[in-house]
Amino acid sequence: MPVTFLLNGDPVSVDAPPTRTLLDWLRETRGLTGTKEGCNEGDCGACTVMVTDERGARALNACILFLPQIDGKAIRTVEGIAGPDGVPHPVQRAMVDQHGSQCGFCTPGFVVSMAVGHKNGRRDHDDILAGNLCRCTGYAPIIRAAEAAAEAEIPEWMEEDLSKLGHSAAPGTDDAAAKGGRPGADWGERDPVAGTGAATGAGNAILDHGWVRPGSVDEMAAWYEANPDATLVAGATDVGLWVTKGLRDLGPVCFLAGVSDLRGIEIGDEEILIRAMTPWADVREALAPLFPSFGEMIRRFASEQIREAATIGGNIANGSPIGDGPPALIALGATLHLRKGDARRQIPLERFFIEYGRQDREPGEFVEAVSLPARARALRCYKLSKRFDQDISAVCGCFNVMLEGDEVRSARIAFGGMAGTPKRAIAVEEALLGRAWSEETIAAALPAFAEDFAPLSDMRASAEYRLEAARGMLRRYHADLTGAAPSILEVTS
Ligand SMILES: Cc1cc2nc3c(=O)[nH]c(=O)nc-3n(C[C@H](O)[C@H](O)[C@H](O)COP(=O)(O)OP(=O)(O)OC[C@H]3O[C@@H](n4cnc5c(N)ncnc54)[C@H](O)[C@@H]3O)c2cc1C
Ligand code: FES
Ligand code: FES
Repeated sequence: MPVTFLLNGDPVSVDAPPTRTLLDWLRETRGLTGTKEGCNEGDCGACTVMVTDERGARALNACILFLPQIDGKAIRTVEGIAGPDGVPHPVQRAMVDQHGSQCGFCTPGFVVSMAVGHKNGRRDHDDILAGNLCRCTGYAPIIRAAEAAAEAEIPEWMEEDLSKLGHSAAPGTDDAAAKGGRPGADWGERDPVAGTGAATGAGNAILDHGWVRPGSVDEMAAWYEANPDATLVAGATDVGLWVTKGLRDLGPVCFLAGVSDLRGIEIGDEEILIRAMTPWADVREALAPLFPSFGEMIRRFASEQIREAATIGGNIANGSPIGDGPPALIALGATLHLRKGDARRQIPLERFFIEYGRQDREPGEFVEAVSLPARARALRCYKLSKRFDQDISAVCGCFNVMLEGDEVRSARIAFGGMAGTPKRAIAVEEALLGRAWSEETIAAALPAFAEDFAPLSDMRASAEYRLEAARGMLRRYHADLTGAAPSILEVTS
């Protein structure tokens, strides 16, 4: 089944294997070699492209973006960032004026990230460009270029994609939502599940095509129950690497990109529900005002390009012991919503992680959502990694203690990087409960870390360092709640 999308303003239809990456296709088939291959694993941003759909424009890494994920969307490569008559985009002009490029290998990726940030009216240039690596120029001229272009008008060609897709309404309006991300009528109607349009017939589609792209969560649930050996692909920020680095054959694949009712956040008075396909960028936007410390940690979750693709469901389902989402969600007391066909069940999130590589998920069952309390004033999340930006945690500690007067009334403390799964620090919690919230209590609780955790030594940190860092995080949490500002980012001279 062909995948159709807009490429630099023109409709294209592609029949390619489902795990063909957009980067390879652009370079090898279309000769669009402005999009570079640096790392081929989402780290360097040299392959950044602009992707537009009814939700707006985003910068994504083309190296870990499979073609079926962009069905019905508009892609702009660096060749489409300049005007049709070759007139440079304001960010390109500013890069020249500010001397923002030397060898030039990273420059197309920077230009696309900057152009998307410019289009979206963003001024947080450091965050926007944290996923673009430059080895020669140094970041100061590049940031100066982003600042210099910030007030320039958005070129008209950068505004065309949405209307060409058939989305005349602004992102987020009812009209846009009603169109549900389907392309304009001139592209013709396509079936939501490859070849058949019906979940029950999707087994045939797999035989014919090797992949499906359901259009609703009900279709997807029925199809996956009938095809439990298939690989679900959400944002592909993990699965993409299985292909580009692991050279794995995924077998039958179910792309969740079109399951729009598996995306979104509902914020109620008591509870927040986050659907599985919600990207971390949206989670950050919604949760940062409610849980500033969690929001700040999400700012350091990978990069802009990854956060725009990576979903909260994928971050939980992959069962990684070093994922940043689960420790924070466990500390919040989150509930995981699982679904298999029409059957649903809910479990405390920490119970999902049984041991390294094993989760409480049956064949054909998937993550539908996660829910959490709407308030947790004392939640603090600390991510320790070798680099500030775009790095996986060596240790991630999340703390949520409730006091009554001076006494610890409840405690939920969870860590990543300390065990084979994300894990609660039960012995530490018990050492705090019912005691005065004092330095003495904290000191007395520190030995309990060795009861909860026997971490591994690996390239990120030694076992001893991890235990010491976790203890330091508890001390820091105490200082934090008692009014000190122990973050070096908050220290001013
Ligand atoms: C450069 C880079 C930096 C990264 N930095 C971080 C970081 O700082 N912190 C961090 O925590 N992670 C990081 N990651 C890992 C990754 O981005 C996250 O784990 C992400 O949330 C995975 O989500 P996804 O939608 O991309 O999942 P996918 O890759 O699509 O899927 C991951 C796994 O989950 C399964 N799956 C997906 N959705 C569902 C569902 N709804 N139900 C059941 N199974 C499902 C898939 O089958 C697969 O097994 C990084 C990755 C890269 C490439
Ligand atoms: S090539 Fe490095 S992020 Fe894609
Ligand atoms: S200009 Fe050479 S890598 Fe950035």
